[in-house]
Amino acid sequence: MKDFKKSWAEPYKMKMVELLKVTSRSQRLAQIKKAGYNTFLLPSDFVYIDLLTDSGTGSMSDRQWSAFMLGDEAYAGSKSFERMEASIKEHYGYKYVIPTHQGRGAENLLSQIMIKKGQLVPGNMYFTTTRLHQELAGGIFTDIIIDEAHDPLNEHPFKGNVDLGKVESIIKKHGAKKIAYISIATNVNMAGGQPISMQNLKQLRSLTQKHGIKIIHDMTRVAENAWFIKQREKGYANRSVEEIVKELCSYTDGATMSAKKDALVNIGGFMATNDYDVYEEARNLVVVYEGLHTYGGLAGRDMEAIAVGIKESLDDNHQKARIGQVEYLGNKMIAYGIPIVKPIGGHGIFVDAKAFLPHLSQDQFPAQALAAEFYIDSGVRTMERGVVSAGRKANGENYNPALELVRFTIPRRVYTQAHMDVVAESTAEVFKNRNKIKGLKMIYEPKYLRFFQARFEKIK
Ligand code: F0G
Repeated sequence: MKDFKKSWAEPYKMKMVELLKVTSRSQRLAQIKKAGYNTFLLPSDFVYIDLLTDSGTGSMSDRQWSAFMLGDEAYAGSKSFERMEASIKEHYGYKYVIPTHQGRGAENLLSQIMIKKGQLVPGNMYFTTTRLHQELAGGIFTDIIIDEAHDPLNEHPFKGNVDLGKVESIIKKHGAKKIAYISIATNVNMAGGQPISMQNLKQLRSLTQKHGIKIIHDMTRVAENAWFIKQREKGYANRSVEEIVKELCSYTDGATMSAKKDALVNIGGFMATNDYDVYEEARNLVVVYEGLHTYGGLAGRDMEAIAVGIKESLDDNHQKARIGQVEYLGNKMIAYGIPIVKPIGGHGIFVDAKAFLPHLSQDQFPAQALAAEFYIDSGVRTMERGVVSAGRKANGENYNPALELVRFTIPRRVYTQAHMDVVAESTAEVFKNRNKIKGLKMIYEPKYLRFFQARFEKIK
C-alpha cells in the first residue's frame, strides 16, 4: 500500500476507550513507597500512562475481536490452532509449530530440548527469561553482540548485529559441539530495541552452516526489525515488511515467539522449528508444561487473535505509525536534553540512568530510582533495565551490565501523541531536579528474575 502522507499518523481510529484515573502527587508518593520503589508492584489503578511494557498491553483490532468469536474451544484438534499454525507457516515460513501460553513457555521447551548441560549458548545480548531458561537447562550464555550495542551513544544503525569475530573465536576455542545453538533476537530488547541487519544474519548463517551450528530466532519483535531494515539497509527500501520478515526467518532453523508484542495480542506465544526431531520432542514436552499440542495453554479465541494479529503486524503502515510514535517521543526527549539510547529503538525509549544521575553508583540502583521518580512526577510507569534486571551470575556476583536504563515501553495502538507529550514533559521536569534524586537499597531479593518483585528503600 502507498503512503497516505509523510506523517506517521495511525492507520486506524478508536472505537472504544478505556478510562484512566488521574492521581495526585501525594497519592503517588504513598503508592511507590508501598510498592518498595518497584514499578512492577504498583497497582495499575494508580498509573496514568502505563509504559511498563509493550507485552500483552496492545489494543486488538475490530478484526481480531471478531475472530475471537470464532474461537474453537475444543480440547483437541481445535480449528483455531489450524488457523494460527497456517498464519505462522505462511508469514514466517517455519515448518512445525507448537503453541505456548507466552514466550517463556516456548523458551522452556526449546531450551530443554536443544541444550545439553555445560553447552554454550552464544546470543546477541541476553534477555532475562531467555537466559534464565538457557541456564536452567544447563547452558552457559555468552554475549556475541557487537561492542557498539553496549554504548548508549553509539549511533550504529544495526546495534543488534553479531560480532562474527566473537563467534569464530568461540568456535575455535571450544569447538562446534560445545555450542547448543546460536540465539539470535531480532530488534534486541535489552540493547534498546535495536535491529540486526539482513547482511549480518546472512553472514552468520554461512559461518554457522560451515560448522553445523543451528540458529534459533527470538522473533518477538521481528516485524519492527524488518521496518528498520526497510529504512536503513541497502536494497530493502522497496521490499515490504512482510517480505523482509520472511527472509529474516529463512536464515534461522527455529524460533520462540512472545505473540504479546509484535503479534498484537494480550496473551500467547509459540515455538517453531524446521527440524522434525525437535518438533517431535516439543510435541511430547508441551503436554507436561503447557497443554495439548493443539492449544498449548491458550484458548481457541487467543489463537484466532494471533492468526489475525500476525498479519496486521506485517502491514507497512502499521509499523510506520508504531515506530513513528516511538521516534516522536524520543525526539522530544532529545530536544529537552534527556540522555537516551541512540538510535531511537523500536518498542520504546531507553533513558540512560548513568548519564541522568551521574552522582549515583550502580550499586545504588540508579535506573530503579529514576523509574520511581518518573512515576511520582506524573503517574507514568516505566521500568528498570539495568543491574536489577541483569540479576546475578551462578557464583552470586551481580552481572553489572554496561547499560543502566529506564525503559519507556510504548504499547501498540494504545496511546496518543498528546500522551507522548505528557511523558516527555515529565521527564524534562524530573531532569531539572535530578541532583536531588537519591539512590536505593535492596531490602528483598527474589531468587529468579528479581526485578519483578524486588523491594527497595531510599538511601537516607
Ligand atoms: N524474548 C524477548 C525479546 C522478550 O522481550 C520477552 C518478553 C520474552 C522473550 C518473553 O516473552 O513475556 O511472553 O514470556 N518481554 C517482556 C518485556 C516481558 O517487558 O520486555 P513472554
